[in-house]
Amino acid sequence: MPPRWGAVSQLFHWTCAALVVALGSIGLYMTELTSPVSKIRIYALHKSLGITLLALVLLRLLWRWTHSVPEPVPGLSRPLRLAAGGVHGALYAMMIAMPLTGWLINSTSGYPLQWFKLINLPSIAAKNEHLNGIAKQLHEFGFWFLALLVLGHVAAALYHHVFLQDGTLNRMLPARRHRPGAMP
Ligand code: HEM
Ligand code: HEM
Repeated sequence: MPPRWGAVSQLFHWTCAALVVALGSIGLYMTELTSPVSKIRIYALHKSLGITLLALVLLRLLWRWTHSVPEPVPGLSRPLRLAAGGVHGALYAMMIAMPLTGWLINSTSGYPLQWFKLINLPSIAAKNEHLNGIAKQLHEFGFWFLALLVLGHVAAALYHHVFLQDGTLNRMLPARRHRPGAMP
């Protein structure tokens, strides 16, 4: 097993993390907008970025299952290892569930779905007001659950870095190279 995360895994991790933060912020902001023109534009951006995240997470999981991942950080108790694994699994599940409930809101509203005005995506359900209400609730509660998971995850990463100093965060960051003779 490699001692640290590879460049591709790191790229997936940080791109997905940035997308999740952007999607949550845009989502909270866009529902408050009143101007119909900016509302349409920003909703379209939210949906396109969300579909991008779905595609990236599926590729990321495919990559993870076909490549070896680093072994657990040494010295971590079994319950803590299980907790970390549980949170990581839940983060993956929510990065798939959020785009799917978003897609369901869109389909049950009867709106077409386009990815950056380039690709037309199919509807995953017929127009249905009742199901639309349920999908909106799932999307909103799902977001707060995801936000809680992310907060716990980031707090754990910082705890490892500052207090345990066990290299957990460093192995998800590009390796620092020591080049002899290089300018300081
Ligand atoms: C991880 C991915 C996503 C996150 C974190 C996210 C987050 C959010 C948030 C925070 C809101 C505001 C909820 C509220 O206050 O009512 C929202 C609303 C919405 N999102 Fe997403 N979203 C994601 C993906 C998607 C995708 C892929 C689509 C569509 C294909 C989508 C469609 C919508 C729609 C239509 C609304 C408005 C719902 C309403 O009118 O109540 N979202 N999203
Ligand atoms: C500043 C923000 C973040 C920091 C500092 C951070 C840090 C880390 C670190 C250090 C790891 C590796 C843990 C290990 O080696 O055992 C990791 C893994 C992971 N992170 Fe983050 N992360 C952040 C944001 C996010 C966000 C926003 C998400 C998704 C919503 C996320 C999802 C994941 C997942 C799913 C893993 C597990 C990877 C795997 O085992 O396949 N992270 N994170």
